[in-house]
Amino acid sequence: MSNQDKLIIFDTTLRDGEQSPGASMTRDEKVRIAKALERMRVDVIEAGFPIASPGDFESVQAVARAVTGSTVCGLARALDKDIDRAGEALKQAASARIHTFIATSPIHMQMKLRMQPEQVIEQAVRAVKRARGYTDNVEFSPEDAGRSEVDFLCRVIEAVIDAGASTINIPDTVGYNLPHQFGELIRTLIERIPNADKAVFSVHCHNDLGLAVGNSLSAVLNGARQVECTINGLGERAGNAALEEVVMAVQTRQDVFPCKTGLDTTQIMTCSRLVSGITGFAVQPNKAIVGINAFAHESGIHQDGVLKSRETYEIMRAQDVGWSANRIVLGKHSGRNAFRTRLQELGIEFSTEEDLNETFSRFKELADKKHEIFDEDLQSLVTETGLESGNDWLKLMSLKVCSETGETPYARLTLWVDGEERPAESPGSGPVDASFKAIEALINSGTELQLYSVNNITSGTDSQGEVTVRLQRGGRIVNGQGADTDIVIASAKAYINAINKIIQRDERAHPQLGDV
Ligand code: KIV
Ligand code: ZN
Repeated sequence: MSNQDKLIIFDTTLRDGEQSPGASMTRDEKVRIAKALERMRVDVIEAGFPIASPGDFESVQAVARAVTGSTVCGLARALDKDIDRAGEALKQAASARIHTFIATSPIHMQMKLRMQPEQVIEQAVRAVKRARGYTDNVEFSPEDAGRSEVDFLCRVIEAVIDAGASTINIPDTVGYNLPHQFGELIRTLIERIPNADKAVFSVHCHNDLGLAVGNSLSAVLNGARQVECTINGLGERAGNAALEEVVMAVQTRQDVFPCKTGLDTTQIMTCSRLVSGITGFAVQPNKAIVGINAFAHESGIHQDGVLKSRETYEIMRAQDVGWSANRIVLGKHSGRNAFRTRLQELGIEFSTEEDLNETFSRFKELADKKHEIFDEDLQSLVTETGLESGNDWLKLMSLKVCSETGETPYARLTLWVDGEERPAESPGSGPVDASFKAIEALINSGTELQLYSVNNITSGTDSQGEVTVRLQRGGRIVNGQGADTDIVIASAKAYINAINKIIQRDERAHPQLGDV
């Protein structure tokens, strides 16, 4: 494929996706997602913002070590200290990129940066030159480009290309643009900037008006050859452009798009489930491509048409994005080898034999309760193993709830609190409420419950319930997850997981509220 025919897919689930309130991920979770993205043949993985916290630095470093098939990128404000930290985190990457940015819109320059336009150009150039000291692969973003003046954008971009930036990313940071306007902006920049041919033009669209994918595609039709996106459209506020939608639009409408991605689209569902399982952000049923209803036909007319000829109502094949027709995979009698093999097919590998054993014994426990184990169950088991760490402050030892018509529900539980076994009990308005109150009776966490949601992982009343609990304390928000065939137990696990996260999470800086 020539450069003009190739559309580079830059995934920022681990960076911009993680900026979604409550979507924080551990280092190991990030490595798992990065490996799944690599298997899907994503070209560039933005693994994080290394200066934000020691945890972010270690995550970028771990992804850089683990991934060899995709370029690994680290974000840095246009500051020496940020760039040095990114360069350090990416040292061991087989292919590394530094992505540096500074705001260029009048409102950001005046109100946030308090800098003159000339100073912004100077700082952008300095940052790109410094990043080139670490790698030849440097990306520059004029933040809030969607509200910047075109003449000024042209000057900044020309200067940073001269300084050595090989990718120019145009962010619609606040999701303000409309598709025809954004496409026009990309075309104008490419036509007017004298050295535009020395760089790949990229776009990064936010979804505040629900236009992130539309704006990205319009940009591609006007010359952009990299799209920045996230799995399931995760991201700051209303999210980023959804990778699966961008990729499938380009693939399905090859009559319109003059370029192709190199992605293995059959990995899309695996990545989607992995990200929603790890972050606790459920995918809405009618979400394009990855929603449970995306290929379901309810009306008789549609069903009849699809049975006669699939193309009557379907523009894509479900298998092409990884929905498999036969999803029953394992059962009670399946052995370790079958278990390991199916997980390998799903792209899941264990870093230690202990993790495999731990997950296998969870699988056996589940198979005793539930006869048919689906891919979704397996993915949830792996996520569960990753959720619990040997040194968790809080663990659930046992839980008993009483729920009877006409009686007040009651929960009795035993927790492991900081190395000590402790009992507690509480009434509540329902068994879940009673369980949460019993946990709080012991630990008095000072958190506020912001969200409680239950989803069935598969269909059927023996399905596992996957629970997400979002807690807030002192402005910090975390999501906790838990899964079990008993949804009260799943709820207690999710609550405990959130408490552990709120206790363990390190303070991190936000890239766009910085001190440039
Ligand atoms: O939305 C944005 O502007 C960003 C930049 C850091 C590229 O995320
Ligand atoms: Zn962004």
